[in-house]
Amino acid sequence: MQIKSFEEYEQTYALSVEQPETFWAGIADNFLWRKKWDKVLSWNFTEPNIKWFEGAKLNITENCLDRHLEEHGDDPAIIWEPNDPERDSITLTYKILHEQVCRFANVLKKNGVQKGDRICIYMPMVPELAVAVLACARIGAVHSVIFGGFSAKSIADRINDAQCKLVITADGAFRGAKQIQLKEVIDDALIGCPTVSKVVVLTHTRTPVSMLKGRDIWWEDEIKLVDTHCPAEEMDAEDMLFILYTSGSTGKPKGVVHTVGGYMVYAGYTFANVFNYKRGEVFFCTADIGWITGHSYIVYGPLSQGATTLMFEGVPTYPTPSRFWEITTKHKVNTLYTAPTAIRSLMSFGTDPVRGQDLSSLRVLGSVGEPINEEAWHWFDEEVGHGKCPIVDTWWQTETGGLMISPIAFVTPTKPGYATLPLPGVQPILVDEQGQEINGNDVSGNLCIKFPWPGMLRTLYGDHDRCRQTYFSAYPELYFTGDGCLRDADGYYRITGRVDDVINVSGHRIGTAEVENAINMHAGVVESAVVGYPHDVKGQGIYAFVIFPNHHEDAELTRKDILQTVTRVIGAIAKPDKILFVSGLPKTRSGKIMRRILRKVAEGETANLGDVSTLLDPTVVDEIIDAAKQA
Ligand code: WTA
Repeated sequence: MQIKSFEEYEQTYALSVEQPETFWAGIADNFLWRKKWDKVLSWNFTEPNIKWFEGAKLNITENCLDRHLEEHGDDPAIIWEPNDPERDSITLTYKILHEQVCRFANVLKKNGVQKGDRICIYMPMVPELAVAVLACARIGAVHSVIFGGFSAKSIADRINDAQCKLVITADGAFRGAKQIQLKEVIDDALIGCPTVSKVVVLTHTRTPVSMLKGRDIWWEDEIKLVDTHCPAEEMDAEDMLFILYTSGSTGKPKGVVHTVGGYMVYAGYTFANVFNYKRGEVFFCTADIGWITGHSYIVYGPLSQGATTLMFEGVPTYPTPSRFWEITTKHKVNTLYTAPTAIRSLMSFGTDPVRGQDLSSLRVLGSVGEPINEEAWHWFDEEVGHGKCPIVDTWWQTETGGLMISPIAFVTPTKPGYATLPLPGVQPILVDEQGQEINGNDVSGNLCIKFPWPGMLRTLYGDHDRCRQTYFSAYPELYFTGDGCLRDADGYYRITGRVDDVINVSGHRIGTAEVENAINMHAGVVESAVVGYPHDVKGQGIYAFVIFPNHHEDAELTRKDILQTVTRVIGAIAKPDKILFVSGLPKTRSGKIMRRILRKVAEGETANLGDVSTLLDPTVVDEIIDAAKQA
């Protein structure tokens, strides 16, 4: 599947556009199917209705585990590096991982889980998290992994939306110097979740937890009661594999649905190509499995290719800002795939932490989640890659399932800040506000994709119409990404950021409406408006304008109260960086908040606010500007 030269890339790309079905059938042939497809693709973007590899039968875990056993069973599948560097790391070979997955799949079955049931996973970054994910896939249950930073209320909303039957969690998680009481959060969440009848609890931090009789069971006890024989459930290519919730421009998170066959092919294909992975190498993706990056490039992509994937429980700066570099040295990491926010944060500690380590094993570097600024790109290139490792700046989304626009390591000439060119099989186009295609180079517009690819979302769980409206209605017959993009004179793509009401904080997507809803739940708040603003480390910060007429005379205390409410309602990841109390918001006569103005205020660029004549009361703008200057 690996493309070896730029010439080959160009030829392959042309084939993928001219004969997409031939192209994808060729890629899909690299995987293990119990029965091959009757039809490669049927689709329309109006309903939308997208089906890949219809009629094919498979199980993704046979591709990620069983097919490697004979020749590579003793190769390391997962290397786990704990939060605390003093503790031992753990290596699971393919054989052992296969055994553990089968065993835990039997635990799920024994507890009543059947094909198609939805399972919520809320766990620390430990090998058992990967085991839990794969065990669901083994028996055809649909996993919905929730990142450890979300609050009880967020979890309850997600569990109820998907009607989950069982929850897999742990007593707690270590995150740098902190501990998160996962089970306690789950206990709070489950007060409002009538569909959940069982909770499996893994021992990890061994913090005291309450165990409810009849509902809560220990992972360690359960696995003793089952054996390691668990045949993989035969799945249709278009059966659901997982749901992953992500933020949109309205308040309610969206349950993005991926299906077995297409997702597997796409995750495996992009992994093998973009990172130029060679068997035996150690691949270190620093994301959390709670996000799509972890699903596709810690679990499914690497394992489908028989790779060694490194799972890290901790954070880049604990106990010291050398942590990533120490891990690289210790495990002889060959590929490091991380986020610009981590690079910027580590850069701020200077070069001592990175220069003290042996990074000579590194061959490829990757960046994901947000635009990478040139300074961070060069630092990554020079200090980490020593100028010899290609940087793949990979643009993609939860909805795309895998990498879309990205250099292919050792194939595509890179350019700082550019995701460069679409992978074969991906057909991006830029459109203007009216939906007209913008042709030629040296142009910018809204980024859309005009042809399906196997990894694309199929629906939003329980709300197909929202899927249609969100992605396929802005521009007829196109998938709209929500991103702005420019195509330079060389035809290279550079993603400029979201054009909708989604902000990207440290590479995490957060909807402004979600944060506003949370702030508005705080007693005394009349209304609020949230925008993103440039932040040196996080990429974007969250700026909240809040109308709170009778706030406590200690404004700082009130701010902290509001942060506490947001933490309760969504989770700590959505806490505003700045809160400004105002007496009014700039609204049009029809009552719409003019966010454009608030964005300018948040950026500190108030000299040229543009046309404010359509505002109901233009004087609020002056007041807000004054308040912002004093803050
Ligand atoms: C942004 C993460 C610039 C973009 C994989 C997208 C990027 C959103 C890049 C998806 C990149 C992701 N350069 N921006 N290389 N990669 N983005 O769903 O705005 O968490 O729409 O998926 O992140 O975020 P998500």
